Amino acid sequence: MRILVTGGAGFIGSHLIDRLMNAGHEVICLDNFFTGDKKNLLHWLNHPYFELVRHDVTEPIRLEVDQIYHLACPASPVHYQYNPVKTIKTNVLGTMNMLGLAKRTKARFLLASTSEVYGDPEVHPQVEDYRGNVNPIGIRSCYDEGKRVAETLAFDYHRQNNVDIRVARIFNTYGPRMLENDGRVVSNFIAQALQNKPLTVYGDGSQTRSFCYVSDLVDGLIRLMNGDHVGPINLGNPEEYSVLELAQKVQAQINPAIPIQQKDLPADDPQRRRPDITRATSLLGWRPTILLQEGLELTIADFRARLAAQSEHSLSTDPLKV
Ligand SMILES: NC(=O)c1ccc[n+]([C@@H]2O[C@H](COP(=O)([O-])OP(=O)(O)OC[C@H]3O[C@@H](n4cnc5c(N)ncnc54)[C@H](O)[C@@H]3O)[C@@H](O)[C@H]2O)c1
Repeated sequence: MRILVTGGAGFIGSHLIDRLMNAGHEVICLDNFFTGDKKNLLHWLNHPYFELVRHDVTEPIRLEVDQIYHLACPASPVHYQYNPVKTIKTNVLGTMNMLGLAKRTKARFLLASTSEVYGDPEVHPQVEDYRGNVNPIGIRSCYDEGKRVAETLAFDYHRQNNVDIRVARIFNTYGPRMLENDGRVVSNFIAQALQNKPLTVYGDGSQTRSFCYVSDLVDGLIRLMNGDHVGPINLGNPEEYSVLELAQKVQAQINPAIPIQQKDLPADDPQRRRPDITRATSLLGWRPTILLQEGLELTIADFRARLAAQSEHSLSTDPLKV
């Protein structure tokens, strides 16, 4: 098949492309490189079945494809709050453009939505029927309301134009190639610990999160795309950890002597987040397989290698250090 992946130079998208290319598909990646990096795809650049196009999804594009994985959108608060209006445009105009493309080409379209559509949930764990508790005027709204509109658009194109859609609600995902500076909790802790800096925990650290390893998530996306169920379907790891517990795990794996430092909780930070994955399990036969301990080891190894490469590069390019 010829498969389009928007946001394919990013963290999840590049792992998805690895899986699709290894399965023998033809892949087109569209990315504006806001948070993505060509380095994540270097190993495919010369492959005859792979095409990388610098393109902003807020602009329409004409392509012929069989499936569209629509992932283009910055995912971490530091990046989606950098230019909130652009984030909304990416979610609304970008999703409209890609749905328009799906309509014209009759391609199946999968939206990478998010657990953020549940906002600060009053229902725990979150089931897909829960409609969420979202602040429409808060600093996270450009992202969470943006994704809610993206879901609405997908369902309206489905009802009105028969576009074949799939909607995944992705919960916190982590793994190699996450940006070290994206402010997300796993990358923060690992980057801080590897640089011998205190681990910053916001609030008292009792807020909970679930962490899904990227290979599990990609497997869920592929099953959803190729299955018969439209969704929305939660994809995430139902094992719940407090942020403090996560900090302690990272500390134990990297350096137990590193202190944990507490800071004020930012506005609208959800207290609890954990997926109910009954739908994914029963409809897609999917459940995560990688334990946090193992996933953290793989992620730490990748961060270590990247930080070492960066310091080697700065040593060789900084004349004062040579
Ligand atoms: N990582 C998570 O924990 C998580 C959780 C829930 C949902 N998601 C969703 O999954 C998708 C991928 O997330 P990720 O973690 O890989 O993030 P990421 O920031 O690494 O990847 C997003 C990619 O989209 C590209 N992009 C952003 N705006 C664009 C635009 N206007 N036009 C073209 N490309 C654009 C970026 O350059 C980047 O390559 C996002 O839609 C995100 O909302 C991720």
